[in-house]
Amino acid sequence: MNEWPTKPGGRVAIAGSGQAAWAWGLGLAHAGLRITQVWGRHAGRGKALANRLDAEYQELTLEGPAPWDGDVLVIAVADQAVGKVAKQFICGPSQHIVHCGGTLAMDVLAAHPSHGVLWPLMNLSQAHERLLQGVPVLLETNNQTLLDILQAWCQDLQALALPSTLAQRTALHLAAVMTANFNNLLLHWGHRILQGQGEHRLLLPILQEQLRLFAKDPADPLVRQSGPAQRGDTETMDKHLALLEQDPEGQALYRTLSRLIAQQKSKKGHD
Ligand SMILES: NC(=O)c1ccc[n+]([C@@H]2O[C@H](COP(=O)([O-])OP(=O)(O)OC[C@H]3O[C@@H](n4cnc5c(N)ncnc54)[C@H](OP(=O)(O)O)[C@@H]3O)[C@@H](O)[C@H]2O)c1
Repeated sequence: MNEWPTKPGGRVAIAGSGQAAWAWGLGLAHAGLRITQVWGRHAGRGKALANRLDAEYQELTLEGPAPWDGDVLVIAVADQAVGKVAKQFICGPSQHIVHCGGTLAMDVLAAHPSHGVLWPLMNLSQAHERLLQGVPVLLETNNQTLLDILQAWCQDLQALALPSTLAQRTALHLAAVMTANFNNLLLHWGHRILQGQGEHRLLLPILQEQLRLFAKDPADPLVRQSGPAQRGDTETMDKHLALLEQDPEGQALYRTLSRLIAQQKSKKGHD
């Protein structure tokens, strides 16, 4: 017999049908929670998620406050729409509402008595049941009951619950954008340059070693910087720029990053 329906916070409704809705839906259901409803603006992805989770599909019409079924409602819509979508719902005395925006204040949900934030420090674009395992999830709530529920969710998901403030979430969000998102753009350039010249998988050992040291060593990664810009090797840099002749954006990126590496090196030299 499934004990979750009687466990506090064990019945979850989701508003939205994008990346975060799928990640939370699949993850929480796999962790043993009951997904009661999926509220979607367009039936396609919303109904598909509801079917996958054996949940009821509801249309998100934004036509006025509506009751919903569950203990916690996860608002998983675009940040700009969170406030408007949250107004669509009425919360009963034992119902809670959370959003998952990394840079969005908790107060956007202040009209609801019990509210909070549940922000996973992870790229959710490829949702699957175990995506949130081991992932830091930054939590903020306006009451202890909801915090206890979200911490229990994280435990069931095998995620790392971290109570946080908006300032901490925003700093982590910025750091994640500058490392993971920007790095993915650089991976794109590696992939692009190697088209027809070899497989981009050949880059894996150098990248894996970089991440291994990043995980192991709390020192600033700049202490391990190498390459032509670090050495001031203009001859090699000119060869690279010549290879990028047909790719002005690649040249601009190369010049900008090489300049920053040289600047950081000279700053460190003056520390
Ligand atoms: N994706 C990630 O890696 C990630 C990671 C951490 C946190 N988050 C957070 O998760 C939340 C959802 O982001 P997401 O990545 O899931 O976005 P997404 O994949 O683009 O999906 C956005 C969802 O919001 C709905 N939506 C957009 N504008 C709306 C409006 N005006 N009214 C009603 N619904 C609207 C969309 O509906 P339609 O499908 O009908 O357009 C869709 O269901 C955001 O707070 C985001 O900051 C995302």
